[in-house]
Amino acid sequence: MEYRGYDSWGVAFGKDLSLVKKAGRISEAGKVEESPAYAGLGHTRWATHGGVTEANAHPHTDCTGRVVVAHNGIVENWEELKNELEKKGHEFKSETDTEVIAHLVESEMGETGELDELIEVVRRVFNQLKGLNAILVYFPQMRSIVAFRNGSPMVLGVGEEEHFIASDIPAFLPYTNKVVFINDMEGVVLHEGTAKLIDAVNSKQLPLKVQEVEWSAEEAELGEHPHYLIKEIMEQPQVLARLAEYPEKDIKEVAKLIKESFGTYFTACGTAAHSGMAATYMFADLAKRHVNFAVGSEFYFLEDFLTPESLLIAASQSGETMDTLEAVRAAKRHKSKVVALVNAQGSSLTRIADKTLLLNCGPEKAVLATKSYTAKLAVFLLLASQLNGGLKDGRKLVAKAAKGAKELLEGDAVGEIKGLAGNLKGAEHLYVIGRGVNYPTALEAALKIKEVSYIHAEGFAGGELKHGVIALIEEGTPCMVFVANDRTKESVLSNAKEIKSRGGFIIGVSPDINEVFDVWIEVPDVGEASPIVNAIPAQLLAYYLAVERGLDPDKPRNLAKSVTVK
Ligand code: G6P
Repeated sequence: MEYRGYDSWGVAFGKDLSLVKKAGRISEAGKVEESPAYAGLGHTRWATHGGVTEANAHPHTDCTGRVVVAHNGIVENWEELKNELEKKGHEFKSETDTEVIAHLVESEMGETGELDELIEVVRRVFNQLKGLNAILVYFPQMRSIVAFRNGSPMVLGVGEEEHFIASDIPAFLPYTNKVVFINDMEGVVLHEGTAKLIDAVNSKQLPLKVQEVEWSAEEAELGEHPHYLIKEIMEQPQVLARLAEYPEKDIKEVAKLIKESFGTYFTACGTAAHSGMAATYMFADLAKRHVNFAVGSEFYFLEDFLTPESLLIAASQSGETMDTLEAVRAAKRHKSKVVALVNAQGSSLTRIADKTLLLNCGPEKAVLATKSYTAKLAVFLLLASQLNGGLKDGRKLVAKAAKGAKELLEGDAVGEIKGLAGNLKGAEHLYVIGRGVNYPTALEAALKIKEVSYIHAEGFAGGELKHGVIALIEEGTPCMVFVANDRTKESVLSNAKEIKSRGGFIIGVSPDINEVFDVWIEVPDVGEASPIVNAIPAQLLAYYLAVERGLDPDKPRNLAKSVTVK
C-alpha cells in the first residue's frame, strides 16, 4: 500500500500487542519482528494532521492498549472530541485526529468486552465522527477487527480462511482476487475466520457480495523492470491496443448521454485533469462540440449552473480522489447525470456514477500517472469520434497510437532521451510549449518532469509566451516543444523560433525534423492521436531525470498516488 502514502508506517499484531511504528518508508524497514498472530493491522501514512513523526504514525492506541486504530480521512470534529476526552482524563500520545477514535472507543467500552458490544461501540463512535472517514479498530485480545467507511475507500478481500480489509485491492492481490466492495455507511467485522457486513445506521447484517477482479498479482509486480514508473510507461502500447477494441455499446451509451445533455462538463485532478482539458480540444475538433472543463478542486465553485440536464464526466485513475468525488457529489446535488472514466473497478467514483467506462489498464502503482493518462485520451478520442458518427475512425486512431507508442518505445528514442536526461540533470528550469490539443500535453509534460525530478518545469500555450513568459528565457534554457502535424504546426514552430532567438535550447518532439530544434525526438505521426504519443517522451524524460538525479522515480517527496482528503 506504500504508494498511497509513504512518510511513516506502523504495524500492530498479536494477542499481547506488538506495535512497531517508524517515520520513513516501510519498504526500507526490513523485517521488524516475527511471531504468529491471528489478526493484525498495518498502515502507511500521508500526513494531514500532525507532522511526520513516529508518534504520529498509525496505528494509534487508547490509554490501555486494548484498542488499536488505523484511519483514512480527516475527523473534522477531532479537537472538540479531544477536549472532552482530555477532561475525562485520557492521555494523548500524538498530534493526530486519529487518536481520538481509540480513546472514544475506550471511553464507551464496558467491562465485559463481548464482541457484540464492541461492534456497537465502534459503530456509535464512527457515527460521532464528522467528515469522510474509513476506520479500522482492532481489538488484540479479542483477535477481532471492526471497520466502517463513509467517503473514504474500503474493500474486503476474501481469501482461503483469511480476510483482508484495505483501502485498495493491490494490498491483498497476492493472496486473493475475491473482493467485496464496501459501500458508504457500511462496516465489516472480522472474527475467528469469519467476515460479517453490517449497516452503520441500524446495525443490520447485510449480504456479502463477493466479486472476482481481473487484475492479477503479477500485473501488480515489478517483473523485469527496476521501477513501476518505467514498467507502466512500457505497458502503454498494450493498453492502447486493448482500448482500440473498446465495447461499442458502452461508447455509444456515453456518446448518447453527451448528445442529449444540455452542457457537458469534464472534471478531474492532476494528470487526469490534463486528459480532461485535452478532451475539450478533441471534442471541438472531431465532434464539433463544445464541452467544458474545470479541475475537481475548483468544480464546486461552478456548481451553481448545473441542472438536471447537465452531464458531468469525471476522470480518475483511482476513482477515490476526494476533490473529484466532491465535484461529482455537487453534480448529484443538482440532479445532473454523471459518467465516470476510471481505472479501479469498484472504486467510490464508479459507485456514485450513473455510468462507468473502465480504463482496463491494470494496476498503476507509480505515483506518477502514465498509462492511465494515455488510456483516458484514447477513450476520449473514441467518444469524440462516435459523436461524429465514426467510431470506426476513432478505433483506427487509437490503434495507430498503439502502434506508434510501440515503435517509439522499441526504437532509438528511449536511449536518446536517456542521454538527454544526462545532459539536463543539472538544469534549474525547463519550459514546455504546445498548442491546441498539445497545450495540455505541455502542461502534462511539465508536471511529469517537476513532480519526479524536482526541476522547476512549466508548461505553456505557445502563443502565450510573448505575453510574459518569454522574459524567463535565458541563454541555454531548455525548452521542450511539441510540434504535431496539424493546424498548430506553423504557429508553434514560430514560438520555438521566438525562444531560440533569445538563447533557448530547443528540444523538438515531432514526426519531422526542423532547423529550429537543437535536439529532435522523433515520434510517429499518428494524426489526431498526437497527444498520446507525445506524452511518452515526456514520461521517459521525467523518469530518466529522476534516475540521473538519484531520486526514487516511484515515490516523489510529499506526494501520494490517490489523495483521499480535500
Ligand atoms: C494525485 C496523484 C496524481 C494524480 C491525481 C489524480 O495527486 O499524485 O498523479 O494524477 O492524484 O488521481 P486520480 O486517481 O483521480 O486519477
